[in-house]
Formats: sequence, structure tokens, C-alpha cells
Amino acid sequence: MANLTVTIGNESFDNPIWVASGTFGYGTEAPELVDVNQLGAIVTKSITRQPREGNPPPRIVESPSGMINSIGLANIGVEKYIKELLPIYEGLSTKIIMNIAGIDIQEYVEIMEMVESVSSVIAGYEINISCPNVKKGGMEFGVDCEMTAKLTEKLRGITERLIIMKLSPNVSDIVSIGLSAEKAGADAVSAINTVVGMSINAKTEMSDIYTTYGGLSGPAIKPIGLAAVHKLYKKLGIPIIGIGGIVTGEDAAEYMLAGATAVQVGTANFRHPGITENIIDSLNTLLNDSNRSFSSELIGKVRTHS
Ligand code: FUM
Repeated sequence: MANLTVTIGNESFDNPIWVASGTFGYGTEAPELVDVNQLGAIVTKSITRQPREGNPPPRIVESPSGMINSIGLANIGVEKYIKELLPIYEGLSTKIIMNIAGIDIQEYVEIMEMVESVSSVIAGYEINISCPNVKKGGMEFGVDCEMTAKLTEKLRGITERLIIMKLSPNVSDIVSIGLSAEKAGADAVSAINTVVGMSINAKTEMSDIYTTYGGLSGPAIKPIGLAAVHKLYKKLGIPIIGIGGIVTGEDAAEYMLAGATAVQVGTANFRHPGITENIIDSLNTLLNDSNRSFSSELIGKVRTHS
């Protein structure tokens, strides 16, 4: 067995296979379907200051090699998260990364301050600056270097836990956004969130999603994710967490070769909630077959033609 341990900031993770926010609930829903303690980390669903119902249905549709969602950040709100979920996380051995979303800096700050004011085992925060499905906040931050920097800096002043800024692919230059997050004190960036997409039913002549556009995820976006991670790896000094279309151990290895320190499995969880166990096993086999003792040996090792 290879050593799969990875380190990000001052946190060490048993393995680089995490589950992505919004695709695994709060991590507590289906203990009979998957042993969550074998995961490198659980990134929990985006939490806002107040509970949210999210967007009206239809808000999910399957698409070729993927799916489009426009959930609209439906969640239980931070008060319930603190009261009901943080105590459950105390009993898990896997690391918990709390994903936070807000409409303005004040909302992100308030949520983080509330969580920091209570004792908990969470390892860090993933900051959602890339949700394409809400009118205010979300992606507004992630498409603007100055806003990304301002938010990151403000949050850095509140916590010593990990801060991971989740980047949007819906920008002309993801590297400049990543660099802004890094300069402002982020410990890592995760890339990519979903790609804006649309689905139309030719028979009914209707758009399939209530909000017209949604976020495309799944294998359809893996090449976009790989390119984003590779571009970020070439310019940033902080770790990158790869997301987008990971279904197999080979997919995870490809992201690590492109420069990812860890990866998040998203859409594949909907088809098979225990798929991460297969991914960890097949990553191990792949490493053994290539005589590597550590998964970290893969990071950034892709060979390019030029
Ligand atoms: O609509 C949603 O809740 C999606 C969130 C995201 O992509 O970050």
C-alpha cells in the first residue's frame, strides 16, 4: 500500500480523496452506504447565515456525461449547523471542511465568527466564491480579483484554520483570481466549481432548469478542470485541490499529475455514494503498479510536449 497522506497548511489528511460540497449533504445522511471515516475529508454543503429553500424546481437535469444543477444554495443555516452538526463531527475521524457562502463580506464574516466562537473539530473552511446559481454574492466574488482578495484577507483575520477559496471556471483568467487569494492569505484554492450551462427540451421547447442556466458538472468538465489546475499549479505556491469529473483512481491521478495536492469527488457520488472507496483502492493500485510509495510523488509531474 502506498502512503496517501497529504498536507495542506498545518493539516494532514489520511488520503487525497475528498467529497465535494453539495454532493454529499452534511456528511451524516447515509452511514449505511459509505464509511465516511475512510475519506480524506468531507467538504460539507454550503452554509449561509439564514436557512435557504433554494431555487424552485426543476433544479437538476442530466446532460451528456454530466448534470446541470441550480439548487440555489438550499441549506439549514449556520445556527442549526452549529447546534446539530458540529457535535456529530466530533465523533468522526475524517476531517471536516465547512463550505461557506454569502451575499456580501459581512455574511461570510458573521458565519465564520459564529463557528469560531464555539469549540469544534472542523479542520477548515472552503469559501464558495463561485456558485453560478444565485443573483447576489457567490460568483460575484470569484470573478473579481479585488473582491476575492478583500474577502480572503478579512476571513484570514478571523481564523487560523485552513482557508480554501473555491474558484470559478467562468472567468477569463482563473490564475489571476487564484493569485489574489494566495496573496491575501488563503492556504489553498479548490478548482473548479461548475461551468455555466443550459439544457433545452426540443419537444416541449422549454428550458429544463427553472433558472434557465445552471452549473454543469461531471466527466463532461474534466478537461476544463485539468487545464485550470495545471495553469494554477504553474503560478501559485499554495496547494490546489482538483475538482471536476473524477470517477476513477485514474482521474484522481490525472488531477494530481496536473498539480493537485488532493481532489474532490462530486457528481459521481449521486450515482454511487460509496464510489470514493473504489477511487482510493484504484489509486493505490495505480501507485503500486508504477512503483511509487507516496501519492504526493504524482503532484505536478505531468510531462508536456513543449
Ligand atoms: O446552486 C447551488 O447550490 C450550487 C452551488 C455551487 O455550485 O457552488
